Amino acid sequence: MKTFRTIRELREHLAGLRSEGTSIGLVPTMGALHEGHLSLIRRARQACGTVVVSLFVNPVQFGPGEDYQNYPRSEAGDLAACEREGVGAVFAPAVEEMYPQPPKTSVHVAGLGEGLCGASRPGHFDGVCTVVSKLLNIVEPQAAFFGRKDYQQARIVQRMVEDLNFPVRIELCPTVREADGLAMSSRNRYLDAESRRQAPGLYAALMRAGDEIRPDGPPRDALLETLSGQIAHLVPAGQIDYLELADPQTLEPLEVARPPALLALAVRLGGARLIDNIVVDEGGAVL
Ligand code: PAF
Repeated sequence: MKTFRTIRELREHLAGLRSEGTSIGLVPTMGALHEGHLSLIRRARQACGTVVVSLFVNPVQFGPGEDYQNYPRSEAGDLAACEREGVGAVFAPAVEEMYPQPPKTSVHVAGLGEGLCGASRPGHFDGVCTVVSKLLNIVEPQAAFFGRKDYQQARIVQRMVEDLNFPVRIELCPTVREADGLAMSSRNRYLDAESRRQAPGLYAALMRAGDEIRPDGPPRDALLETLSGQIAHLVPAGQIDYLELADPQTLEPLEVARPPALLALAVRLGGARLIDNIVVDEGGAVL
């Protein structure tokens, strides 16, 4: 495995592989790798000849007062994990390499980024789209792999790639959960013991409310009330940021809890803002 700090050296390396006909898969991350990231790497290894993992805490996707400074950084452990997983190349640039001058260009996907997490994190998805565009242009992968836990992010990136004709396939991969159901996240380490005890209740609440998403499902407000009741019961210390029932493709709010439907939440618990979601697909399967 090779580690690159500069765009030029990474591009030279990848050009060599490409000329040999090797397909490239990209797993973009902000480091602090956990099993969720490793599952993306494993999927990328199945699908592509070589895997590039980027480790970059992207300043432009953090708002004022968010956790950019304190975001967990663990490069040595991340490199060891990538090596164990058979990653071909890690791209771990400094901020100055990615943003040598304050960027005047930003990628904005209208509509999809305003609701859900976008409402309490204005500008966040512009920052994500900008850095993902840069990474796609630097790595030129055939496929890039995103987790369903950040469902809104993954859909926005898919739409950006369609609208701007990036020659890449964006693959959504299943959320990886702890044994008790808590969705894996680098931010779970912010949870104190009591919050960690309650946190799995978020997924349990989604699953219980999700049972009501059926062809004859209830109106939106009734479903969201069920969900908030479940959260109050299972995660009493949680403060709801948002609960949303939306079309999984357009992310537009749904008026009736009928499949296909995305049921998503963000809840503040202890020191963390946790997000999670389920999608009930056309056939009633829960993703
Ligand atoms: O999901 C993340 O870790 C980040 O938003 C991403 C996609 C790596 C862009 O910085």
